[in-house]
Order: sequence, then C-alpha cells, then structure tokens
Amino acid sequence: MADNPTARARALIAQMTLAEKAGQLSQAFAVPFLPPVDDRVAAGELGSLLFVTDPARINQLQRLAVEHSRLGIPLLFGFDVIHGLRTIFPVPLGMAASFDPELVEQAQAAAAAEARASGIHWAFAPMVDIARDPRWGRIVEGAGEDPHLGSQMAAAQVRGLQGPHIGTPGRVLAGPKHFLGYGAAPGGRDYEPVSLSDAEIRNVYLPPFAAALAAGAGNVMSAYMDLNQVPAVASKGLLDDLLRSELGFEGFVVSDANGVENQVAQHFAPDSAEAAALALIAGNDMEMALGPNAFAHLPALVEQGRVPADVLDRAVERVLVAKIRLGLFENPYVDEAAAAQVLATPAHRALAQMAAERSLVLLQNDGALPLAPGAAKRVAVIGPLADSIADTLGPWVFVPDKAETITVARGISERLAGLAQVDTAAGVQLLRAFPSGLEAFGGKVTPWSADDAANQFDRAVAAAQAADQVILVLGEAQSQSGERASAADLRLPGDQMHLLDAVLATGKPVVLVLLAGRPLDLTGITGRVPAILMAWYPGTRGGAAVAAALFGDVNPGGKLPVTWPRSVGQVPIHYARARTHTPDRADSLYHDLESTPLFPFGHGLSYTQFDFAPPQLDRPVLERGGAVTLTTRVRNSGSRSGDVVVQLYTHQRAGRAMRPDRELKGFQRVTLAAGESRDISFRIDGDMLSYWHAGERCTVLDPGLFDLWVGPDATADLHIGLQVN
Ligand code: NOJ
Repeated sequence: MADNPTARARALIAQMTLAEKAGQLSQAFAVPFLPPVDDRVAAGELGSLLFVTDPARINQLQRLAVEHSRLGIPLLFGFDVIHGLRTIFPVPLGMAASFDPELVEQAQAAAAAEARASGIHWAFAPMVDIARDPRWGRIVEGAGEDPHLGSQMAAAQVRGLQGPHIGTPGRVLAGPKHFLGYGAAPGGRDYEPVSLSDAEIRNVYLPPFAAALAAGAGNVMSAYMDLNQVPAVASKGLLDDLLRSELGFEGFVVSDANGVENQVAQHFAPDSAEAAALALIAGNDMEMALGPNAFAHLPALVEQGRVPADVLDRAVERVLVAKIRLGLFENPYVDEAAAAQVLATPAHRALAQMAAERSLVLLQNDGALPLAPGAAKRVAVIGPLADSIADTLGPWVFVPDKAETITVARGISERLAGLAQVDTAAGVQLLRAFPSGLEAFGGKVTPWSADDAANQFDRAVAAAQAADQVILVLGEAQSQSGERASAADLRLPGDQMHLLDAVLATGKPVVLVLLAGRPLDLTGITGRVPAILMAWYPGTRGGAAVAAALFGDVNPGGKLPVTWPRSVGQVPIHYARARTHTPDRADSLYHDLESTPLFPFGHGLSYTQFDFAPPQLDRPVLERGGAVTLTTRVRNSGSRSGDVVVQLYTHQRAGRAMRPDRELKGFQRVTLAAGESRDISFRIDGDMLSYWHAGERCTVLDPGLFDLWVGPDATADLHIGLQVN
C-alpha cells in the first residue's frame, strides 16, 4: 500500500469525519496581520497553509498537525515562489526574454531548492497566463503574449520547480495558474470579467497550461474573474470538463485567495455555503482563503445532500495523494539547521547573474554601447531606480537576501572600482500607495518634502553636470507592477520625464537603462537617447548583469516576449493578429500614429550583427503524418561573439479558419563567435501547423500552402513556401 498513494489516501479517508475532510481542503494564510492559525491546525480544521517561510515556524505548525490533530495528517505549505525565494531571479517576463528554456528550468530548480530547504512544499507558479495588454500589471508574472513561447516557458518552469516527478528531493509541487483566461483582462484592468471565444481559449490561452500539465504539474490554481459570465472558480466546464476530462489532469485544483467566497461579491452565489458547493462541484479541491474558509460549510452541505459525499471524498483524495507523493507522511519536518546551506548560495547567485545577463534586451543602440570601462573618469548613475534594492528585485519578492542584492548603481561602482568615480542620485521619487490590504506586503515609502524633492532633483542634475558619462535608470517602481497594478498610461510614471529632460539638457552623453515589468511608452525618449537597455526587474545580481552589459563584458542577447507599443493607444498590438480585407493598408491604420509597434515581438539588438541565409526545405511538400526540415544558415558578421535567437514563423494561406498573419513555432538561441556560421534547423510537422477549429470542435490541419519565415524577430522576411497535402 505504501507504493500506492491512492489506496493509502482512501484508507485514511475511511477514518475521517466530514469536518476533518473539509479541513484537508481548507488552506489559510499564516501571516502576522491575520488571526493565528495554530488552534485550527491542532483541531484538524486546516490542511494547508501559505505565506510561512521561516523553517522554525513551519516545524512548529507542522508539529501541531502531526502530533496534536486527531489523524496526524501533515500540513502542506505553499508559497508564491515566483522568481526565487532568497536568491531572486529576473521576473518571469524577463526570464522569458532569455528565450532560453534550459536556463529557466535551472533558475526554477534553484528557487525550488531554496523553498524546499525552508520547509515550503509547493510553489504557486508558474503563472502561464497569456498577456497581450501591457496595461495589465500581471503581464510581469508571465511569459508575455505568445502561446508557443509561453508553452516552452511553462514546461521549463514546471520541470525546474517540480523535477522529473512529484516528490523529487529538493523540489516542490508546481501549480500553473490562473485557469483560465485571466490575462485577457479588458483594458488591462485586473480581475475584470473576460469574454473569450472557444477558438481563442483553445489556440491562445490553453496551450501553456497543456504544456505545464504535460510536464507533470501536480496542481492548478483556478482564476478569480468570470470567463464568459461564469466565475472561473465555479466553472465545471473549465475545471471538471476541460482540465480534468479533456486534458487528463489528475492533480488537485486550488482556488485563488478568497476566490470561493468572492462569488458572493461577484453576485454569482447568494452566500458562502452555496459558493463552497459551487466551487467544489465545479472541480476545485482546496480553498485558499484570507478570512474564514467557506469550505467549513462542506460538512453541512453534504449532510443536506447539496454536495455529494463522493465529490467531497474525491477532492480529499487528490489532496492526500499530493501529500503522500511529496513524502510528507514520512518526512513532515524541515531540517532547520540545514536550511542556511541551501539558501542564497554562491552557486544560486551566479545562476541569478547569468539569468539576468541573458534576460537583458538591447532595445536601441547607435553605437554608444558598450561603454569602454575607464574611458569616462566620472560616471553618474541617476534615477529613482538606480540604487533601490526593492525595485531591482521587482514584485512577488518577500524574503530576499537584501544585503546580496546588487542595484545598478552598485553594479556599476563595483565594475568601475579603481577606474572611475561613480556618483549616484535618485533625482525623483516614485510613489504608489499600496491598495488596502496589501500594505503589509510592500514597504512603505515616505514621501519627500517639497524642499527635499527640489534638493534631490538639483543634486541629480549637478551629478550629471559633473560627469563624463551619465547612466539613467528609469522605469516603474516594484509596486507599480504586478497584481492590482494596472496602468492607464504607459509613459514613465512620476517626474521621470522632467529628470530625463534636465539630464539631457546638460549635454552629457547619456545611456538609458529601464527597469520595469511591462513595455513603456518611450515617446520623446527614443529619438533623444542613443542607447536603451531593457533590464526588467533583474533580481539579486541584476546590477552586476547590467554593468557587465553596459561595459561590454557581456553581449546582450535577450529578445522581447511581448510587442512593444509606441503608445497606449495602440494596445492591444500583439503580432499574431489575423489579416483584414485590406492588408496593404495596414500601414495606415491610425491617422495620428504609425501603425507598427515601436519594437516588434522577438526584437533585441546585439553588439555584433547576424546575417541569415534564405531558408531551405529538405522537401517541398509535407505529407500528412510526415515531417520536413527547414534549415537556415546564420552568420555572425560582426567582430565579437554574441547570441542570436533564430525564430521560425508560420502562416496558413487558406483554410477553414483565418489564422494569424504569423505565429512563432520555433526558436533557438545560439552563441556564435565573430565570423562563425551555423546551420539552424527546425522540424516541421502537421501538429505544428494545426489549430483548434470552432466549427469542428477539434484540432484540424488544413491542406494547402503555408508561408514559413525565419529571422531575428516577428518581422522576419526570409521566406519559403511549403505545400501541405
Ligand atoms: C492572489 C494571486 O492572484 C495568486 O496568483 C497568488 O498565488 C495568491 N494571491 C496567493 O498569494
């Protein structure tokens, strides 16, 4: 029986009261600003806790469950391990910009090791919501706009977090979220009701989840908002049918925090008891709650016949199987003394630096970069994000190693030690009040007085004046990105444009580093600043990575996982749109703005150049069930080594549905030495060219002519046609 988790779970269920069953399905926040959970744990009212990161506290709570609750079932500890725990990696959107799934896997494996060493068993990650609107603050948590890139990143994160199987030592359970369609928030307004067609669901929003499940994810989190008029948490069609029956998911589903109870606020469920019944029957197994658990109503609901007893048992079974697979019954406790040896090790920091380096996207460069170290004897690093630890780390960071965090200013100072004098000045302050309820998670910023503000601004301009080279570090503060951080305006927040104007007015050479969780409106900036490096929120070693790129120790090779609009008025402007009846007029869409984005999806420059040879196919025709190979020769025609991301886009010319003008179907990041050439190949088969058809309600492959392009971004123009029979 020990090897059969289901039988073992069932044997336990046979001994459980209804209240104990409801307890296993109830998860609570264990945080200082909410009522203590200890008594509820000892009484068997809770099966899982979130937000505890201290190994000693985890053991203390676990002891209550194991030694004091009647059945001694261990607690499952979950946490938002989004881009690291102690060692912080770039935010997920930045990690996606690496176009390097292997790196992403390694980073999440390191995050998992730190989490597990702390006693955390389960990460509420990866967030695999496709996001095509940069106004949505949570675009930072995912892999951007593209289903193919999103799927690769989703699978890599699950492999990294969870390892080859659930229960792999030193790893945690992975929970892709939020099922489904949360990223389609209209207007970028967080939590807004979403309407999506079945074709959009299947072809755009579902693939990253399918990839995460194929990689073995043991948990899924349901979403807050309503999808097509039904809260996702109450949607049997989404959870029981699509996720379980169709995708074959066998793990457990957790609601988002308070998602069950929220159905009352959403005016969908009349009261919390009904909300609990709806959520459980739809297919949620565990309820994450900030306040009292609505699932506490489950025993009464079963007794009244409103919830079938076997539905309750099935949910308990799924939760217990996860605990058994994770080995919690054998090893419920964490080794408190050993934790320190795993947390924030030099190896993790080195990996975080590599990840940050590979996530950097060189948006624009007229040759100003790289800077020659020591050429400027005085360097001014200016901006509100230049030397801010929190804003180097980004959102969804709770217990970072602050002392080890290298801001951009610190990274540059360390890189130029002995070569130049480095001055740092914030110039302006970025303020954002946290939404009520979230203050406890974010640091409080004390606003400068009017006098202080004037002095700080003047000091920054004086520092620029005195410098031979200015490095501006602008963007968004940590709190301006993430959950409940929608932006109506994508221009630089606060007084940053004034600072930029004043610094440029000094006439000193300036390069710009952006720290942000979304593309920003760079109107009035791109034409006046010679070089712009997008660093996202680069994490613990972010400043060292930025310095390495600015001074040429590292050649940037990251690419945009999201189309970069010129202004908010173009949003949404993802590249994979279908054609209109006047495709030639697509370049005159707006009468007041160019139609093209500022930077296309996949864009990113390098300090070297790459040439692509026209693609070739080993066969001109793809027969059903077969495959062809496309090959292109890529050459580094510049004078230094660098990375290129070779991208493959496809398009179907005619068929039973209008397909996007272009779809990314393959990518390979390769390093080429100066002058080196390499053949890069992609295997193309029917699966790659098929799609879900709304009328047929299944995946179809339309025979006919397909366009294939290869190149360095979504505007790739090297083309070859492929006939599919
Ligand atoms: C709400 C968020 O939507 C979800 O992604 C997160 O995991 C939970 N809160 C827990 O913090």
